[in-house]
Formats: sequence, structure tokens, C-alpha cells
Amino acid sequence: MRVLRNQIVPWIKVLGCQALVLAAVLSLSRFITPGTLPVLLGQGAAAAALGRLLRMPPIWLVVQFLLPVAVVYGDAVPAWAYLAAFVLCALVYWNSASEQVPLYLTNRRTWQALSDLVAAAQAKRVVDLGSGMGGVVTFLARAHPDVEVSGLETAPLVVAASKLRIAFSRLANARIVYRSLWDADLGAYDLVYCFLSPVPMARLFDKARAEMRPGTLFVSNSFTVPGRAADRILDVDDARRTQLHIYTL
Ligand SMILES: C[S@@+](CC[C@H](N)C(=O)[O-])C[C@H]1O[C@@H](n2cnc3c(N)ncnc32)[C@H](O)[C@@H]1O
Repeated sequence: MRVLRNQIVPWIKVLGCQALVLAAVLSLSRFITPGTLPVLLGQGAAAAALGRLLRMPPIWLVVQFLLPVAVVYGDAVPAWAYLAAFVLCALVYWNSASEQVPLYLTNRRTWQALSDLVAAAQAKRVVDLGSGMGGVVTFLARAHPDVEVSGLETAPLVVAASKLRIAFSRLANARIVYRSLWDADLGAYDLVYCFLSPVPMARLFDKARAEMRPGTLFVSNSFTVPGRAADRILDVDDARRTQLHIYTL
């Protein structure tokens, strides 16, 4: 059902918008030349505008915009470019297929809410499980110089980029480790943060319960632990109405 909603319905909307715009272009073919680059870009922009009216997420607006050019000029792109794009995506979205956890990032307001939690809990060691581009780690380490902040990540390009980010920020209390969250010893931390997907939550919380010390905090951005109510829910004042689900071990 979710696949239908997330993948098939948007494609139906994309094709509907493109067909509508193409029909308009063809009906105006006495005045414009269909298939030329400016017209194709205009077609894409019009389809993206229709997509926006249909409240499609931004990534689908990019698809709407590029589709006419991609269809007509697809042959002009060398085959190696497709392979390179695939490898690049694989190195970034490494865990999407195996763990069903893609890359999306915690926003700045949630960094701040998390930082307030770290202060309130007087945590000394904090970890971000699946640390992405290292935004959470960098922010918390800068806000709390006396707290050791770690990030664990296994997507190769993402690890490299976030390690570079930490190196440039010169934060002695921050580190990114190339390690699966399943191999982490969660008992070492006072606060464990994660922003993953619904898929690993039950297994991850079992691991947290087995390893974390009493009184320490397990904080999940957006995704709840099935069958276990959070001890506290923190509503973040941001556009996506983020909720931090806080479990006290
Ligand atoms: C939704 S992103 C969150 C990124 C970051 N924590 C943030 O909030 O900005 C989830 C991250 O978890 C990583 N990930 C998924 N499974 C993992 C695993 N088993 N071990 C380490 N990282 C993992 C993904 O590569 C991705 O970068």
C-alpha cells in the first residue's frame, strides 16, 4: 500500500501533468517549435508548476522539470554518465536497500531541541546512530564542548564527507566512525539519538534495552518504537512538525 502511495501515485501525477502540458504545446505548434531546448525547458517548468499546485514534494518537481529534456536528449548523454550516477547514488544511499534507511537530515531547529535535551540530561557521551552528513554531531559538539559526541555511519561517501566536515570544524570532542549501528556498544552513551525509518525501530530498541544503562535516554526523531509508548514527546516548532520520541531506559 505504501509503495503504491509513494511511487505509483506520483508517477501518475507526473505523467498527467506532462501530458497536459504537451497537449498545450502541440496546440500552439503554429507559434512555437516543439522539441527545441527552450520549449522543452518551458514544458518542464509548466509541468513542475502544475505539480506544485498538486502539492507534490520538491523531488518530484525536479523530475517534472527535467523529464521533457531527458526524454528528447537522453541519447546525448554518454552511457558511462549513467553508470557514474548510479555509483554515486549507491555510495550515498548505501543503506536504503539493505537497511531500508535512506539519507535525509535533521533540521536546525531539531538540532537545537536535541541540544537542550543534552543539557537537561547532563549527558557526557552522546551518539547519533546513522549520522548522515554529521550535522547533529557538529552542532552538539560545538554547543557542548565538554560532551563527547560520536556519529556512526556506513554509507561510504557520506562517511567521507562528514569526516571532512568534522576535520574542518576542528572540534576535538566530535568524531565520526565508520561502523554499523548494530555493532555499537550503546552502553557507552548517556543519550542515543537516531533518525532512521520505521523498519529498524523494534530491533534497535531491543538492543538499547539490553545495553543502555538505567536512566539514560534513547531519542528517536519521528519514528516510534512499536508497542512501546514514549515516556515523553517533544514537539519541535518547525515546518515538518518534528516530534522527538524520548524513552528513558
Ligand atoms: C535519515 S539519515 C539521518 C542522518 C542524521 N542522523 C541526521 O539526522 O541528520 C539515516 C542515516 O543512517 C545511516 N544508516 C542506515 N543504516 C545504518 C547502519 N546500519 N549503520 C550506520 N548507519 C546507518 C544512513 O546511511 C543514513 O545516513
